[in-house]
Amino acid sequence: MVAYRSVLITGASSGLGRALALQCAAPGVELHLSGRDATRLEAAATECRTRGAAVQARVLDVRDAAAMEAWIAAAGRLDLVVANAGISAGTGDGRPESAAQARVVFAANLDGVLNTAMPALAAMRMQAPGADGVRGRIGVVASIAAFVPVPGAPAYCASKAAVDVWTVATAAVARPEGVLMTSICPGYVRTAMTARNRFPMPGLMDADRAARIILRGLAAGRRRIVFPWWMGFAARLAGLLPPRLSGALLSIPPGKDGLPDGH
Ligand SMILES: NC(=O)c1ccc[n+]([C@@H]2O[C@H](COP(=O)([O-])OP(=O)(O)OC[C@H]3O[C@@H](n4cnc5c(N)ncnc54)[C@H](OP(=O)(O)O)[C@@H]3O)[C@@H](O)[C@H]2O)c1
Repeated sequence: MVAYRSVLITGASSGLGRALALQCAAPGVELHLSGRDATRLEAAATECRTRGAAVQARVLDVRDAAAMEAWIAAAGRLDLVVANAGISAGTGDGRPESAAQARVVFAANLDGVLNTAMPALAAMRMQAPGADGVRGRIGVVASIAAFVPVPGAPAYCASKAAVDVWTVATAAVARPEGVLMTSICPGYVRTAMTARNRFPMPGLMDADRAARIILRGLAAGRRRIVFPWWMGFAARLAGLLPPRLSGALLSIPPGKDGLPDGH
């Protein structure tokens, strides 16, 4: 496993981001963590400190491009950045998604990723390479939802498709410059996000297990991590169906309710 000295994670106050932070936390490691909820962020930071890490916690909205750029620039050398913060929202009882909801989802999931990954990429290009020739690693949390147009979650799926394709495409040009970029596509993970779902979630896994899989894939320099693999495969197949068929198939589970609290 790669030994990171400095790691920056957005959305570290909860779920997957918190689990990633805890697994990176160790003596000699500096963690830069952000989220919006000050109490939950501080609780995650405290847990990381008890594992020996030095933690800088910052209440920050990923949609604030200027604040994100300043935060990342001030962090100093970064071995790993994970653009993890995101929200999900659905159409509830099947009404079309409102423009307002779609914009909120795109702002958090797409602008938020660009506001994290772009400054990280710029900073890492200027860093000296390590013994392995790598200047830094950037993980972007997309989703298996990137592969399927689910009628109950149009903006969520579209935002994840956008960040997945953007990350994999950018990875090809970042790699020769010494920066490894990875699109992270999990299936269902047990977090506050999935606690709102009212349908069966095949392959649902704990955040700790998901974080271990993600860190392994990042260390290996993979351009895309999809897990569980069988769910990614099934989603790819469903995405190949003619839209009328995939629409009928993917409409079977009820849609998630609208935006989470606080959005
Ligand atoms: N859970 C799953 O099954 C699953 C599957 C595939 C992909 N994902 C992706 O994994 C990522 C993490 O989700 P999760 O499941 O861990 O959900 P979660 O427990 O709800 O955590 C989401 C995190 O993102 C932060 N966040 C949301 N909007 C933000 C904003 N505008 N600015 C800053 N931080 C913001 C939250 O901060 P506050 O709570 O402090 O606001 C929280 O720390 C998301 O990108 C999600 O789409 C999740």
